[in-house]
Amino acid sequence: MFEHIERVPGDAILGLIEAFKKDTNPQKVDLGVGVYKDAQGTTPVMRAVKEAEALLLKNETTKTYIGSHGAPAYGQAVLPMVLGEGSPVLEAGRASATQSPGGTGALRLAADFIANQLPGKDVWVSDPTWPNHLGIFPAAGLTLHKYPYVDAENRLDFDGMLGALKQIPDGDVVLLHACCHNPTGFDLSRDQWQQVLEVVRERNLLPLIDFAYQGFGEGLDEDAYGVRLLAENLDEVIITSSCSKNFGIYCERTGCLIMVARNAEQMENVRSQVAIVARENYSNPPSHGGAIVSEILHSAELAALWREELTEMRDRINTLRRDFVEALKPYGLDEKYACVAEQRGMFSYTGLTPEQVDRLRDEFGIYMVRSGRANVAGFSHENLPYLTKAIAAVN
Ligand code: LMR
Repeated sequence: MFEHIERVPGDAILGLIEAFKKDTNPQKVDLGVGVYKDAQGTTPVMRAVKEAEALLLKNETTKTYIGSHGAPAYGQAVLPMVLGEGSPVLEAGRASATQSPGGTGALRLAADFIANQLPGKDVWVSDPTWPNHLGIFPAAGLTLHKYPYVDAENRLDFDGMLGALKQIPDGDVVLLHACCHNPTGFDLSRDQWQQVLEVVRERNLLPLIDFAYQGFGEGLDEDAYGVRLLAENLDEVIITSSCSKNFGIYCERTGCLIMVARNAEQMENVRSQVAIVARENYSNPPSHGGAIVSEILHSAELAALWREELTEMRDRINTLRRDFVEALKPYGLDEKYACVAEQRGMFSYTGLTPEQVDRLRDEFGIYMVRSGRANVAGFSHENLPYLTKAIAAVN
C-alpha cells in the first residue's frame, strides 16, 4: 500500500531547527523559526507564566474536557485583548471566541468553516505570506490567490496591494496580517488600514485577519488598530489570534478563532457551526495554555507583570533592529538594509537572496529562511559584529 509514497522535503521553517542543532560551528546564529530569544539566545518562560502555572497546579481540580469552544474564561480574556476593552463589537454581542490549538489551529478552523459554509469563495493572501498559509487553505479544499505586497526594491507595495484588492471578486476572503507581517515585517499605517477598509466594504470582501504577534509591533492596543477598525465598521470579520508569541507559550498551542457577525443572533448561528468544525478536527482544544492566559489576564497583578515583560521583548527587538543597521555602517551597507529598522515584529525581509542565505549558512553557520526572512529576535549585541561581517562578506 505504501510503496508508491514519495519522500518530500521537510518544512522550510521548522526544518531549520534541526539543521541549526546539528551545526557544530561555535559562532552559529539562529535567525530561523519565529520564537523570541533573550540576550543569552534562549527562549525563556515568562515570569507571569511561571506564576500562573504555579497557581494552576495548586488550584486545579479536574482535567475533564473543556468543550469545543474551549474554556469560557479564556474567550472572555482574549476578546477584550483583541477587540479592546469596552469594544462596541463586544457590547453588541457580535463576537464569538473559540479556543484553538495555536494560531495555526484557528486558521484551519477558519478554512474549514469557509469551505463548509461559504462554498465557491476563494482566499487571497499577500505575496509573500507565511508559507503555512499556502498549505492550510488548499488542505481545506479552498482555492488560493495572491495580491502583491512587496515591490522589487523590497518596500511595501501598498498601491499594488490596493489595486489588486479592488479586482477581487465580490464576497471572496482576503487574508490580512494585523501587524508584524510575516515574513516581511512591513505593516500598514493607520491611513492605509482606512483605505483597505473602504475597498473591503466596496467589494463586499470577507476579511480574515491573522493576528499572531499582538504586542510585538508597537504595543498591544496599537497593533490591534486594523483589527478593531474592520471589526467595528464591517458586519463580518474573521480573526485568528495567537498567544504563542506574546505569552511565550509556543508549545502549549494556544490560539483563538474570533468570528464577528452582523448581530448576536447570527453570531450564535456561526458559533454553532464552528463548534462542529472543531469537533471534527480535534474535538476539544488543549487546556493548559488557555488556562495560563486566562489566569494572567484575569489577575491585575499578573497582567501588569506580563505587559511589562512583553514591552521588554518588543523594545529589545526594536533596539536590535536599529543597532543592526548601525553595525552595517562601516561596511557601507546601512542604507541597503535600512528597511530592517523600519520593519516591525519578529521578522525582517532582508532582501538577502536565496544564494546569499545559503552562503551565510554554509560559510558562517547563520540560519534563516531562504526567502531572506530573518528572525530579528535572534540578533544579539554579542552576535551583531559576526553577523554584519558575514553579511558584508556575501554582498
Ligand atoms: C514562523 O513563521 O517562524 C512561526 O510562525 C513558526 C511557524 O510555525 O512557522
